[in-house]
Amino acid sequence: MRVLVTGGLGYIGSHTCVQMIEAGMTPIIVDNLYNSKTTVLARIEKLTGVLPLFYQGDICDRDFLDNVFHLNDIDAVIHFAGLKAVNESVDAPLEYYKNNVHGTLVLVEAMQAASVNTMVFSSSATVYGEPATTPVTEEFPTKAINPYGRSKLMVEECLVDIQKAHPEMSITLLRYFNPVGAHPSGEMGEDPQGIPNNLMPFISQVAVGRREYLSVFGNDYPTVDGTGVRDYIHVLDLADGHLAALNHKGKEAGLHIYNLGTGNGFSVLQMVEAFSKSSGVEVAYQIAPRRPGDIAECWADPGKAKRELHWEATRTIDDMTTDTWRWQSNNPNGYPDA
Ligand code: NAD
Ligand code: WQD
Repeated sequence: MRVLVTGGLGYIGSHTCVQMIEAGMTPIIVDNLYNSKTTVLARIEKLTGVLPLFYQGDICDRDFLDNVFHLNDIDAVIHFAGLKAVNESVDAPLEYYKNNVHGTLVLVEAMQAASVNTMVFSSSATVYGEPATTPVTEEFPTKAINPYGRSKLMVEECLVDIQKAHPEMSITLLRYFNPVGAHPSGEMGEDPQGIPNNLMPFISQVAVGRREYLSVFGNDYPTVDGTGVRDYIHVLDLADGHLAALNHKGKEAGLHIYNLGTGNGFSVLQMVEAFSKSSGVEVAYQIAPRRPGDIAECWADPGKAKRELHWEATRTIDDMTTDTWRWQSNNPNGYPDA
């Protein structure tokens, strides 16, 4: 199967490309390098023995996309490309709506022009806003609380309408919980530019000495120890979820929605402790005020993906922290420049 992978040089996309190649699929990568480097390609080749085809360009550029579809006989699209930082989206909403919403619409137009009917889309648990209870099922009401979340929800709604009008299409919305971890080889991992927004890369940068301490955003939530609880999922489990989506629903016309999470919640302090244990490095932290917009706790009910995609997360918190540490300690400054 030949799959166009937009954003394929990014964190989740690159791991998915490795898993695809291992499974005998052919990823064809499109990325504008806004948040990634071409040196990721060499790591994919090192791990798999295959250098995937890569086209540098923007999903908002219809001529560029038409050319990529014209040059390759593409069976399906996995659509990762987009902007993902919540606080940045508050300052630059236009960029978020342009890249995430408009970019997706241009991509769907190019797919239709090339008669490609299958798409797997990177959505997010952020579309549930503050869930009334946990675990969260796919039937929970959706409500976004920041421009990033709204852009994801808008794309979901657009894709629902588009699929309804084009019933031959197979569109799968995958709502990721909190992706963490790295390839166990230590060759690939998350490489955020600037100060990390997310917990795990921040912890690992403290452990490797790039940052002094972690600020724990609030310890007075109604949770196990007062700190925020999330459903952290290993990036390779997440990657495998995309393969399962393509294999089980990709050929079935319709609109399919799945939570990709483990079904378990861990607090910030539990993650700090797990990371310290795996790395052997004490992670310094200080309690700080709550981060505006944060919710107390959230974890998935991943039962639907298990039943229908025959997929479930198998990697443990220890795998997530050990693999992150191997990546971070081998590559303290992330990927080299090209
Ligand atoms: P990432 O930033 O590492 O990867 C995204 C890739 O898309 C980058 O390589 C970037 O250069 C590229 N890109 C961005 N805009 C583009 C454009 N207009 N044209 C072409 N390429 C473009 O992010 P990630 O963590 O791998 O996330 C992948 C997807 O999953 C995103 O859509 C994100 O919103 C979604 N998601 C991520 C998380 C998370 O916590 N990492 C959680 C839920 C959903
Ligand atoms: C996890 C926990 C923080 C950093 C975000 C997006 C969401 C999705 C995933 C894309 C929370 C705490 C964090 C720090 C901390 N992305 N924390 N100190 O907020 O669940 O989700 O990323 O779709 O849309 O909102 O993830 O990793 O930022 O935070 O104490 O320096 O760690 O308060 O409890 P979050 P996160």
